[in-house]
Amino acid sequence: MPKIGNIQLPEFPLLLAPMEDVSDPPFRALCKEQGADVVYTEFISSEGLIRDAAKSVMKLDIYEKERPVGIQIFGAVLESMLRTVEIVEASGPDIIDINFGCPVKKVVSKGAGAGILKDIDLMVSLTEAMVKHTKLPVTVKTRLGWDHDSIRILEVAERLQDVGCQAISIHGRTRAQMYKGDADWRPIADVKNNPRMHIPVFGNGDVDTPEKATQMRDKYGLDGAMIGRASIGYPWFFKEVKHYFKTGEHLAPPTIIERVDAARRHLQMAIDWKGEKLGVFETRRHYTNYFKGIPDFKPYRMKMVTSDDSASVFEAFDEVLQVFGDYEFV
Ligand SMILES: Cc1cc2nc3c(=O)[nH]c(=O)nc-3n(C[C@H](O)[C@H](O)[C@H](O)COP(=O)(O)O)c2cc1C
Repeated sequence: MPKIGNIQLPEFPLLLAPMEDVSDPPFRALCKEQGADVVYTEFISSEGLIRDAAKSVMKLDIYEKERPVGIQIFGAVLESMLRTVEIVEASGPDIIDINFGCPVKKVVSKGAGAGILKDIDLMVSLTEAMVKHTKLPVTVKTRLGWDHDSIRILEVAERLQDVGCQAISIHGRTRAQMYKGDADWRPIADVKNNPRMHIPVFGNGDVDTPEKATQMRDKYGLDGAMIGRASIGYPWFFKEVKHYFKTGEHLAPPTIIERVDAARRHLQMAIDWKGEKLGVFETRRHYTNYFKGIPDFKPYRMKMVTSDDSASVFEAFDEVLQVFGDYEFV
């Protein structure tokens, strides 16, 4: 069974992917309750942390109940990354994860995120320096390569392992692909099948059904699946995959009562954690999925995603229970 440093994980663990403005403590806690084995924070800018930018610092918050949790950081400047390791350590995560995969221009143009895929030596030396600077396990999340013609993930993974990286999560796309096309899991399997590799290799990209998670495990032989978009507004995805692993059957989807309960708790935790305004605003993106598939739902969804005060959103949840209380999801 895979281990990240001394953290023992179950067979084929499911990891909640780091997602900006999504993987915050309330959402991570809900995913953990539903079976996520490891959760990651959204990426946090090392330069922002060093400047003590309030928004970056707030992202370091962790609930005890979500452990093991990895804090993900990004940056490309050695001194800043080392100072960041110290700041991150002080907030007590179980893992420090380095983002070498973010494709967005504002990150890449500074040589961070996937930008570093153009300078593998720097990627390796930064990782080595960070490993030496902390007692926590350091993991890496990356993509296959910069573009189709420069896929060197086999070599990259080996070199990261050799400098002490304790696990690697690989999104089966290149930076050039952004989110287009299908994720290709074959090069990830090649990394796993490299006889020199002994750290866990987690697959990422497009796992949105229990069958796909099973393929990642059985056909591609990976050590675990990192799940992103399929969990947004649907933390039950982790439980559904695990149920399928155990029984080969699909779990019945959550009832409307369970969905309203999760949405309510999500909003309340978000408000408690970041205040009324941000809590209301940043939980909006989950509602579409929480209540996906219900006919004639638009007025209720509109109320949830346009109201500026939580009382109106909670009221919309109550109305949903009244109107759709016995709706059966298929
Ligand atoms: C809204 C959103 C925000 C994301 N933010 C991050 C991030 O902060 N750090 C990171 O490494 N990847 C980030 N990603 C990429 C995901 O972690 C993941 O690699 C990608 O979505 C593919 O997995 P999926 O098909 O399961 O969603 C983000 C993806 C989405 C959709």
